[in-house]
Amino acid sequence: MADGRARVAASILDSDLSNLAYAVRRVEAAGADRIHLDVMDAHFVPNLTFGPRTIKALRRRTELPFDAHLMVSEPGRFLDEYLDAGCDSITIHVEIDEDIAPTLERIRAAGRAAGLSVKPRTPLSALEPYRQLLDIVMVMTVEPGFGGQTFMKDVAQEKLLAARDLLSHKPYGGEVHVDGGVNRETAELAGGLGVDVLVVGSALFAKGHDMGREIRLIRALADEGYQYTLNGGVPPIPRDRMVTFASLPKHLARQLMGEIEASGVPVVTLRGNGQINPDGVRDYDLLVPASAEAFVVERFTDARSASEREAEAWRVEFIAEHGVIPPPSHP
Ligand code: DX5
Ligand code: ZN
Repeated sequence: MADGRARVAASILDSDLSNLAYAVRRVEAAGADRIHLDVMDAHFVPNLTFGPRTIKALRRRTELPFDAHLMVSEPGRFLDEYLDAGCDSITIHVEIDEDIAPTLERIRAAGRAAGLSVKPRTPLSALEPYRQLLDIVMVMTVEPGFGGQTFMKDVAQEKLLAARDLLSHKPYGGEVHVDGGVNRETAELAGGLGVDVLVVGSALFAKGHDMGREIRLIRALADEGYQYTLNGGVPPIPRDRMVTFASLPKHLARQLMGEIEASGVPVVTLRGNGQINPDGVRDYDLLVPASAEAFVVERFTDARSASEREAEAWRVEFIAEHGVIPPPSHP
């Protein structure tokens, strides 16, 4: 798993379409964080690529997450097939005539991330009615339909930062994707506009390019852009870094974990190596993603203090009732 903040999703649209399985293995070996699957129906866009059956066949070839980008007029019609094919996220276009909300709800009901993509000439405000149903906002910086086109800087500057606001209901896990014309020349600008996921296609498959180096470069340049444009020169928090928010006896740790997870922030509980309780069991540590720490501290500091007081009372009560049980001695 890559360090840093930015993630690279490799689009296989410009790979050798006669050997997609090889393309998937190649981008995985080169260090891509996920696979971006461009589905086109020759109706919504003037191109035809592949559908859910191809995706299902590719699903066995890699563990990497699959981001489906559906450039189709009727995504709702085949949605179950895409879910069954093992897509981890499904992004549809806001410009379709089909009803959008029910499709986003079905994607989320299946436990996948739901996204909306917006063409260059469509205003971001078109996504407003669906704000609460979004996990992903995908900003197209080329006219959808083909790889190898030029990145539209003006569109990126107009929409990428603003797209974050559409995900403000998610304290953690909301993603802004940029798709179209991303390469080492444009990655820093995109990173400086706060994107989480950079979709990269032709730049990876260009002859003579070392794919692994391209991915590392694009990721590093995006983080550099973020660091110096948005983060006051401070390196961004690595996406997967976890920090300890609390240490509590097991039953109270579980309780507080439930409260925090109900807010949309994932929590990992691990038996800590701190305080041993009167029941002989050490406190459990609650770990949260570093990028969500500020939100958790603001929202759950009081709950943590209450749990710590409750823990103290429980320890006193336990000792009164059972005395102190020594921890199990390891042979
Ligand atoms: C275009 C697709 C993009 C494309 C990206 O409609 O949605 O994902 O494959 O390829 P490049 O990086 O070459 O623009
Ligand atoms: Zn795409």
